[in-house]
Amino acid sequence: MNDNTFVNHPPEVPVPADSRPLVAPIYQSVKFSFDDSRETLRFLHGEREGFFYSRNSNPTLRQLELTLAQMQGREECLLVGSGVATIAATLLSLCKHGDHVLAFVESYGPTRYIVQHLLAKYGVTHTLLSIEDLTGIERVLRDTPTRLVVFESPTNPVTKIADIEHLTTHARRAGCLTVMDNTFAGFHNHGAYDVDIFLHSLTKYASGHGDVMGGAIIANRPLIAAMRKDVVSMGPTLDPHAAFLIQRGLRTYFLRYERECANALAVSRYLHGHERIARVFYPGLETHPQHALAKRQMKDFGTVVSFELDGGFDQGNRFADALRLFSITSSVGSTESLVMPPQLLGGQEFTAEQRAASLIGRGTVRLSIGIEEAADLIADLEQALRGAFT
Ligand SMILES: Cc1ncc(COP(=O)(O)O)c(C=O)c1O
Repeated sequence: MNDNTFVNHPPEVPVPADSRPLVAPIYQSVKFSFDDSRETLRFLHGEREGFFYSRNSNPTLRQLELTLAQMQGREECLLVGSGVATIAATLLSLCKHGDHVLAFVESYGPTRYIVQHLLAKYGVTHTLLSIEDLTGIERVLRDTPTRLVVFESPTNPVTKIADIEHLTTHARRAGCLTVMDNTFAGFHNHGAYDVDIFLHSLTKYASGHGDVMGGAIIANRPLIAAMRKDVVSMGPTLDPHAAFLIQRGLRTYFLRYERECANALAVSRYLHGHERIARVFYPGLETHPQHALAKRQMKDFGTVVSFELDGGFDQGNRFADALRLFSITSSVGSTESLVMPPQLLGGQEFTAEQRAASLIGRGTVRLSIGIEEAADLIADLEQALRGAFT
């Protein structure tokens, strides 16, 4: 065999069954091959276990799927290349022409875009309410046949808390599916509620280090099996190396999340007492209007703290520019702290009524709290607040 042939057929290195790696290898292979055509056909007909083509399934992805399904308290998981891909794939897979969807003003921007523009192209109608409008939710679910309701809690950026039991009870009664983007609350929250489908951006807390993107759709076996067919056909597969990095990040998920929550509480308590801050939004504060609901629904209160700065865009920008430990950028759930000044918080397309419901004002600032020392974060916030007003 010539070397140019040989390098395309490298030697196999069998690993004995009793010599196990503690970290599973990355199956960075697009293709898997059986011994002969008969076995290949048996696999393709669902008559035997195995892997064949990584757009459909891959052992590295499978390990991550099993881990995330268990963490969220459901049977099955389907991985895709980003958090947004979970939303698009789920809604496109579950809805058809003539269906109606209930979504919320407080929903993540791309979720609203998918509902209002992408689904609309295929004849799917929608209603957009405030997540706080409980009577509106009851009315829509009672009066309008609805295929699914898609929601988040805590919401971005002002950490409103959805009443999950209220939503799931009325949705179940109406025969409507519930889809919860649980990215902000994490896999350890909300699993006990009667939610049909959980979505997560793995770009955030799961991987935790801001160096990889991914998304997970988590539900019972029949729902994922039905969705897997559609989603695999659309092709938004996660790469095995990305799955490996996310699996590695998960080892410190609970440590990071716990530390970030403790820091977020310390930061929100500091901000709450500040004379230049009109209002602090953090569900862990007793002054948060839905603190009791958050306490009932969640094991902790999340890592996002927002507040209304006295002043407007200028003060918000000056404050963000003066921060040294918080980088101005989107995303949450990284080990380092981040800030979004008011002009970057989106919602430009809102009507006046929707803007009022969103609670995003000209002085709203969002912080994503990292794992640094709380005292250092507070000192940085203090000097930046001083800088913003002098
Ligand atoms: C609640 C929520 N869902 C989904 C996403 C999208 O995730 P990704 O950036 O991985 O597409 C984000 C990103 O900020 C988010 O905040």
